[in-house]
Amino acid sequence: MKIVTCIAPVNIAVIKYWGKRDNELILPINDSISSTLDANQMCAKTTIMASPNFLDNKLWLNGQEENFDQPRLKNCLKEIKKRIYTDESKENIVNWNIHICSENNFPTAAGLASSAAGYACLVFALAKLYNIEGDISGLARRGSGSACRSIYGGWVKWCKGEAADGSDSLAVQLAPPSHWADMRVIILVVNESRKKHSSTNAMKTSMSTSTLLTTRAETIVPARISDMEAAIKAKDFAKFADLTMRDSNQFHAICLDTYPPCFYLNEVSRSIIEFVHEYNDFKESTQVAYTYDAGPNACLYTLENNVSELLAVIDEVFPTNAAREEYIKGIPVKTIQLSQDVRQKFSSLKNSRDLLKYIIVTKVGEGPQMLSNTSEHLLNENGLPK
Ligand code: DP6
Repeated sequence: MKIVTCIAPVNIAVIKYWGKRDNELILPINDSISSTLDANQMCAKTTIMASPNFLDNKLWLNGQEENFDQPRLKNCLKEIKKRIYTDESKENIVNWNIHICSENNFPTAAGLASSAAGYACLVFALAKLYNIEGDISGLARRGSGSACRSIYGGWVKWCKGEAADGSDSLAVQLAPPSHWADMRVIILVVNESRKKHSSTNAMKTSMSTSTLLTTRAETIVPARISDMEAAIKAKDFAKFADLTMRDSNQFHAICLDTYPPCFYLNEVSRSIIEFVHEYNDFKESTQVAYTYDAGPNACLYTLENNVSELLAVIDEVFPTNAAREEYIKGIPVKTIQLSQDVRQKFSSLKNSRDLLKYIIVTKVGEGPQMLSNTSEHLLNENGLPK
């Protein structure tokens, strides 16, 4: 019997991946760049146990048993097994069935990038189970495209690659988390019950119907990728923020150009966009950037010295009835009182109460980790969820 438990982080793209040139191999039409978020605030955790006594492969996700026969899970396993070095003299662990148990430490219903963390964790844990060496981002990509970027910490680029077999469509680290240590990420979880369209299906529809998508991928993204790499390298916040916001807006413009269109932003998301531009105007320089994936939640990038004031202004513009301890999660933030002037300035933007469900304050963090303490395992000695 062998058991491993790992955690893997979420990542948030600042230059978006949207559109595949190969649906089966999950090969994108453009490069993308993201930051990996600190796993202390948000992560997927996965335990995998292999045993010669297991009669079947089994899978539990967030406490529910799920069907193991899922094409993306099977593809990940098939590709991983090709990389296993088998030593004939040892018991062949490759032929044993496995039990997988995985959970997120943040609500999946919130529509946050859970599949990226989930597949990165699955592949990382399988690589530990079978002692696979070398880059595994191409394996994580087979689970979900954006998952390949969660294999590395810090600032990460997914190079689209040129090869038809996907062998060069891999993630690389551009800079470690320590490079831009005062960067903070604030996630505004928007109250919404509507289920979003799956990114996989929407992306397919964009590929077949959006005339803007090819122009974006071929002529706009390549320049943006090199500008973004330079902005990150130079820690040029204003440049970084400008590119991040423009790219998020362009991605949602492509969604509108998709036919029929897919709407991910809602009224609250749009109010947050307006608010960020007002806030930057008020500061007379770009201090905050927003970005949105396939859902209404805003992900804000800002530097540490702005966080207290920004949260105080957000509280003014998006007031809540919730208690602060439950409402603001993650890295502790000092509370400050806004001056009458500042309150006055934002009073015209004030919204009705409780448009935001809660806020997560986090930062750029490390890649996946294996947990050595056996108390961390999600499966008991019989291979069943604890
Ligand atoms: C909007 O990685 O979820 O978050 O490869 O089909 O699983 P599949 O799609 P997925 O798409 C994520 C798209 C995005 C932008 C991004 O993360 O770059």
